[in-house]
Amino acid sequence: MKKLLICGIAGHMGGNILELLKDDDSACAICGVDLHVPENFKGNVYKNFKDVAEKVDAVIDFSSPACLEGELDYCVKNGVPAVIAATGYTKEQLKLIDDAAKKVAVFRTANFSVGINLLVKLVNEAAAFLGEKFDIEIVEKHHNLKKDAPSGTALMLADAANSAFEEKKPYICGREGIVGARGREIGLHAVRGGTIVGEHDVLFCGEDEIITLSHSARSKKVFAAGAIRAAKWICGKPAGLYDMKALLADL
Ligand SMILES: NC(=O)c1ccc[n+]([C@@H]2O[C@H](COP(=O)([O-])OP(=O)(O)OC[C@H]3O[C@@H](n4cnc5c(N)ncnc54)[C@H](O)[C@@H]3O)[C@@H](O)[C@H]2O)c1
Repeated sequence: MKKLLICGIAGHMGGNILELLKDDDSACAICGVDLHVPENFKGNVYKNFKDVAEKVDAVIDFSSPACLEGELDYCVKNGVPAVIAATGYTKEQLKLIDDAAKKVAVFRTANFSVGINLLVKLVNEAAAFLGEKFDIEIVEKHHNLKKDAPSGTALMLADAANSAFEEKKPYICGREGIVGARGREIGLHAVRGGTIVGEHDVLFCGEDEIITLSHSARSKKVFAAGAIRAAKWICGKPAGLYDMKALLADL
């Protein structure tokens, strides 16, 4: 039985993880890190990683970038693999993740759904096939509580498209005012409202035709299940940075 620490245990995703783990006979949540304590959770919930007393097999982080430093210190000090699912990290924080991955196994993805990871591949192929003549715009839609914009998944899709081009395209998040004719950019647009779980449309707009590749998540469970699968998979892996591509290739 893999013992997991859930960072962000009292949040929406933390709740989904706990719900799924109730019926899991190979992994369980033994403690958490959060500013709040979820109802009906019997383990310890710490306000920060410095106080964690338990030895766990893996950490799953669905909290916020604010937890990152303490979490990486805990994981490196205790040789514990980390599954980093939260989004909105700065470039400096992404570098900290890369550095920690030289010492322990770290799994990071902005999206755990199999469908999005297929979409990443299709977007890269479409960008390579369609080339410079098609303008690329990404529209993402999420619930009204989401803190970061554009979504980590939208950035992942933009990177997938961009990796098809030798000369990288700049990203423009939203447009306003007299912006003039469009350049070579990839446009990213964030819609926020209600309880939308996560919608991503990638538009390739050419002369007289538009190709749209899209994904719609219907419940947060898909992400929680993916993160639990990643946590089980990463146990015992050597230091390194892992993602869904590596996990899916291993199935
Ligand atoms: N990778 C994926 O597939 C995926 C899927 C869904 C959500 N996410 C990301 O996961 C994160 C959480 O999403 P959510 O909808 O559960 O958010 P949420 O706001 O419902 O939950 C976040 C939890 O983290 C806790 N937290 C925040 N800052 C903290 C701190 N400094 N110390 C301790 N606890 C802290 C909050 O108290 C809260 O309980 C977001 O970054 C979101 O973008 C990723």
